[in-house]
Amino acid sequence: MPPIAGRYRRAVSGFGLSGIRTHDAPPLPYRAPARTVAAVPADATANGTADEVAAAEPASSGEPTRIGIIGGTGPAGAALATRLADIGCEVTLGSRSKYRSMEVVDNILDRWPDRHLRIHPGANSLAAQEPTVVMATPWDAAAITAKGVAEHLRGKVVATMSNALARVDDEFVPLIPPRGSVAASVQASLPDSLVAAALQHVPATELGNLDEPVHGDILICSDHREATWHIAEIVDRMPGARALDCGNLSNATAIEAFTAVLMQLNTRYRTRVALRLVGLDHVPISVLGGGPSRPEGHETADVTAETAQPDAETVPD
Ligand SMILES: NC(=O)c1ccc[n+]([C@@H]2O[C@H](COP(=O)([O-])OP(=O)(O)OC[C@H]3O[C@@H](n4cnc5c(N)ncnc54)[C@H](OP(=O)(O)O)[C@@H]3O)[C@@H](O)[C@H]2O)c1
Repeated sequence: MPPIAGRYRRAVSGFGLSGIRTHDAPPLPYRAPARTVAAVPADATANGTADEVAAAEPASSGEPTRIGIIGGTGPAGAALATRLADIGCEVTLGSRSKYRSMEVVDNILDRWPDRHLRIHPGANSLAAQEPTVVMATPWDAAAITAKGVAEHLRGKVVATMSNALARVDDEFVPLIPPRGSVAASVQASLPDSLVAAALQHVPATELGNLDEPVHGDILICSDHREATWHIAEIVDRMPGARALDCGNLSNATAIEAFTAVLMQLNTRYRTRVALRLVGLDHVPISVLGGGPSRPEGHETADVTAETAQPDAETVPD
């Protein structure tokens, strides 16, 4: 097999899909501590100097990471808010209507009364003022919505989780937005922000169910490596989740489009699949991605790629 030049140059790479079955998953023993990630400086560049990378490293002040979610009232945004708050983040759940936001936050807090989740309702413009922001609107609203609050997002890491999909008869098909992906469209709307694509593949139901781990790999890509590391550090705190640095934002096209495949599998097999890549040991993303703390021995063997079939286990009877 020819060598593959890549970030993860070890073992054999491939992917597996696991059907999520909440009834046979073990109880969740893990409760993540609250930690803080400093905002990336406004003059950070795509090249990620050592200082900028250091700025994206976890801080030690003990203050919670503050995150705003734009379009937070939908299933995806509300689930993400729930999970982020459970790992110790303080979340502003944004909406075009503060009353809708209040209703959704009340529902989350009512569902998880013992978790002491710190989620606050607010307008999208309030969510945009948090140090880190996630866009969770429908795909065709993401770039225009981001542009509307661009002044608040300057110099910040902005994650997008939207997928451009259409349902044609009983098939899910990917749509290719202008610039190739939703994330690239948002980056074009926010030239002074550090946009990362992330969290496209996690079903909201699982993301928001705090009784279970997240199950799966979270693919992240960005033209700003410090943005990837910043989001990865947060994702890695989610029990069961593993953040993977998937390179530049151009890969968002594939990541977003692949969601159509997962949705199709869900329909065909009447389950909800999660993505898990094989051939990657779980080491900090800053090491695998070539960050400042890469130890010796982590740039060794070549890999080959192969595609795994879904486990027989994941196909319902
Ligand atoms: N659902 C999932 O399981 C899942 C998982 C991973 C990723 N995603 C992706 O995440 C994104 C959001 O998913 P979702 O299911 O939560 O979507 P959704 O319910 O359709 O939309 C999310 C929120 O966006 C706001 N919104 C709707 N239309 C808008 C517009 N034209 N302009 C500005 N804001 C608007 C609404 O909030 P307000 O009306 O309160 O402003 C809505 O509650 C999608 O692109 C999806 O592909 C979804």
